[in-house]
Amino acid sequence: MIILNTKQDYKNHINLLKSKGEIIGFVPTMGNLHDGHLSLIEIAKKNSSKIIVSIFVNPLQFGKNDDFNKYPRTFNRDVSKLKDLNCDILFAPNDTYEVFDEIDNLKYLKAGPKGNILCGKLRPGHFDGVLKVVYTLFKLTEPDVSIFGLKDFQQLYLVKKMARKYFPNIDIISAPTIRAKNGLALSSRNSYLDKTSIKIAPLFYKILLEGINNLKHSTSIEQTTNKIINSLEKNKFLVNYVSLLTIDLEKLNPNSSDKKILLSSVNLGGTRLIDNIEFS
Ligand code: PAF
Repeated sequence: MIILNTKQDYKNHINLLKSKGEIIGFVPTMGNLHDGHLSLIEIAKKNSSKIIVSIFVNPLQFGKNDDFNKYPRTFNRDVSKLKDLNCDILFAPNDTYEVFDEIDNLKYLKAGPKGNILCGKLRPGHFDGVLKVVYTLFKLTEPDVSIFGLKDFQQLYLVKKMARKYFPNIDIISAPTIRAKNGLALSSRNSYLDKTSIKIAPLFYKILLEGINNLKHSTSIEQTTNKIINSLEKNKFLVNYVSLLTIDLEKLNPNSSDKKILLSSVNLGGTRLIDNIEFS
């Protein structure tokens, strides 16, 4: 695996791959790789001839009270995992400037109203920051396919929308959420959970699943979400939101047969967790 730290070296290698007609599969990450990320890479492998992964902890997607400095950085461990998976290139910019030297040109790039609901409401500007880095990395990499996890449903939705507009030739593939045996969705933030919280955390998914089952016996969205909120609060979760929407993140008509999604974010012992479940 080739590790590249500068934009110029990266661009040169991309041009080489392009000249050879390689199909580029790209997985952007912030490192601290777990089985969820590795599953994205496996999907990329099935859909391309060369695999590129980026590791860049993007300062633009962290708010003032967010955990940019605390974000787990495990570079050496990540590199050995990527080598085991036979990745071809790792782009690990050694400086923010390597990615954002043309940041002023990205002023216009905003996530819009759907970036200001759910997690975007809790973390103002977060999705603008995500889109800016993904846009910049797409511009540099010009991948044929790029893989994003369904766990971060709102991020996936917004990236797809941005890609349709600016990168219509990139195939954005949605990857299923990878869960621990106890149901907890894998996330880099799980490593912040203390001993007590780690025991409670799997209840998050269980309570959301129960909520969906209850919805089969009730047509009231409000009743269902309140029931889920009560159940989460009883189990020591601080609820940020529980929201039942269409998969276009629109208000749901309870009688519609369209695909629906239950999205939630909670805080547990100071750690923010998110999860979601799609259903019909
Ligand atoms: O999902 C993530 O890890 C990040 O938001 C991403 C897509 C790598 C952008 O920094």
